[in-house]
Amino acid sequence: MQYIFDSIGFNEIETDLLVCFVPMFDKLADKQLKAVDEATDGSLALMLKSGEFCGESGQMAMFYSPSGMSAKRLLLLGLGDIKKIDADTYRRTIGTASKLDIFKKIKSASFYMATEKDADIFQAVAEGYILGSYELSKYKTNAASKKKSKLSEFEMIIPRKGGLSKLERATMRGVEIAEGQTLVRDLSGTPSNDLTPSKYCDLITTLAKEHKISCRILDEAAIKREKMGALLSVAKGSVEPPRFAVLQYKGGPEGQKPIVLVGKGVTFDAGGISLRPSAGMHEMKQDMTGSAVVLSAILTASRLGIARNIVALIPMAENMPSGHATRPGDIIKSRKGLTIENINTDAEGRLLLADALDYASKFDPQAVIDVATLTGATLYILGYSGAPIMGNNSKLMDQLRTASDNTAERVWEMPIWDDFRDQMKSPIADLTNSGGRPAGTCAAAAFLENFIGDWPWAHIDIAYVDLEPKGRPYVPKGATGFGLRLLIDLLSNWKKV
Ligand code: BES
Ligand code: MN
Ligand code: ZN
Repeated sequence: MQYIFDSIGFNEIETDLLVCFVPMFDKLADKQLKAVDEATDGSLALMLKSGEFCGESGQMAMFYSPSGMSAKRLLLLGLGDIKKIDADTYRRTIGTASKLDIFKKIKSASFYMATEKDADIFQAVAEGYILGSYELSKYKTNAASKKKSKLSEFEMIIPRKGGLSKLERATMRGVEIAEGQTLVRDLSGTPSNDLTPSKYCDLITTLAKEHKISCRILDEAAIKREKMGALLSVAKGSVEPPRFAVLQYKGGPEGQKPIVLVGKGVTFDAGGISLRPSAGMHEMKQDMTGSAVVLSAILTASRLGIARNIVALIPMAENMPSGHATRPGDIIKSRKGLTIENINTDAEGRLLLADALDYASKFDPQAVIDVATLTGATLYILGYSGAPIMGNNSKLMDQLRTASDNTAERVWEMPIWDDFRDQMKSPIADLTNSGGRPAGTCAAAAFLENFIGDWPWAHIDIAYVDLEPKGRPYVPKGATGFGLRLLIDLLSNWKKV
C-alpha cells in the first residue's frame, strides 16, 4: 500500500473513492455539507429529510459521479454526536466501513479530513482501516476467499497547507502500529501444528534479524543449565521441547536501564494431566498471545525508533498430557529456588512466567511488564471488554491507565491482597500453583509476585480480550491482538516510575 498526503480542494481530488467523515447534523448549515448537497443534486437534503443520513454513528451514504467533482464516488460516514467524538470514534467508523466490498474493488481511496487536524485522529484512521479489514486468509485455498484487496493508494487530504508533515508522521505511526497488531493476530490465529516452540523460534529469529534486534534462543539444554525447572516441568509432557527467547532493542542511551517485557508463550494448552474439557480446547492454540504481544511490541518499538532500551523475554512450551507429563502433586523447583507443588497442571502459565520473571533480574530492569492469557476467571471480571492489571507500583499503574485511555484498549486494576497470597501457600512446598476458584485472576498475580525482584512490575491478564467472539468495528471475530497499541503507547510516553 502506498500512503499519500496532499492538501487540495474538495472538488479537485482525483480518486476512485472520496471518504468524508460527518458529525451528526440537523440542517445543511455547514459549508462542507452544502458543497456535498450541491454535488449530489440535492440528494443530501432529501436524505436528511427522510432520515436516511444525518451523520448518526454507523450511517453511511454513497454517491456515484458527484457532479463537478473529480472523485468517482463519494462516501459519507456518520460520526454521531459531535460532543462524543474522539480518536476512537474515527477508528470505529472507518473500521466498520473498511469491510465494505467497494474497498476490494477500487485502487485508490482518499480521506478528506476537513474539520479535524489532530494528529491522533489521523493515526486512528490508519489503524481503523488496517485493523477493520484484517482477515486471516492464509489457510483458505479457494480463490474467492483469498481475493485480496486491490486498494493500492491510501490518501489523506487536508484542505489547508501547513502542518501536513506532522499529520503524515501520525498516519504512518498508525500504519506501523496497526501492522504490529496484525502480526499479533496472525501469530495468535496460527494453529499449534504450525507454531510449535521451535517453529516459533525460527520466526522470531527471522523477524529479529530483519529488525536488527539482538536475539538469543535458549534450547532445552540451555534452559536446563539455567535451572528453569518450572518451565521444564510444563514442557515435559510434550514431544516438542521448550524454548526461551531473549530479544534486546537498544533505542535508548547506553546505561539506560531497560524495560523488560515478558510474554506467556504456551503454544498449546491441553491442560496436561489436568486435561481441559474438549469443548473450546482448540482455542488454546492462542495461549501464546502474550508472547506475540511482547514480540510485536519490541519489533514495533524498533520500527518507530522509540528511544528506550527494551528487552523481551519469551518462554515457550506446549502443555500436553502423556506418560512423560508432570503429575498433579509433583513438586518442582523453580529457577529462583522456590519449590512449587503442582496441584493442577492446567495452571501452567504462571510456572513459565515464574522462571522468566526471575530471569528478568539479570537485566537490572527499571520495570517489568508481563502479558499473559493466564486465567479463565477474567471472564467474570471484565469479560471481553477489558484486561485486569495488577502490580506493585502506582506510577506504573497510572501510566498503564493513561495508555489505555489513549488507545481504547481497556484495562482496570485489581488488587493483590494477603488473602490471595495465603491461597497460594502449600502445606508441603513453598508455593502451590493453584489457589482454587476464588479470585483466580488475583491469586495468580499473588503467585507471580514471589518471583519478581526489587523493581516495579505490572501483570496484564489478557485471557478473553485476546479473542473476539462476535466481531466489533475494527476487531473482526477471532484474534484481537489486544495489548499491542497499549504497550506501544506506554513505551512511547514512558516516564520514570
Ligand atoms: N490458558 C489458561 C487460561 C485461559 C482460559 C485463557 C480460558 C483463555 C481462556 C490457563 O493456563 C489456565 O488453564 N488457567 C486455569 C488456572 C486454574 C487451574 C488455577 C484457569 O484459569 O482455569
Ligand atoms: Mn492452562
Ligand atoms: Zn494456559
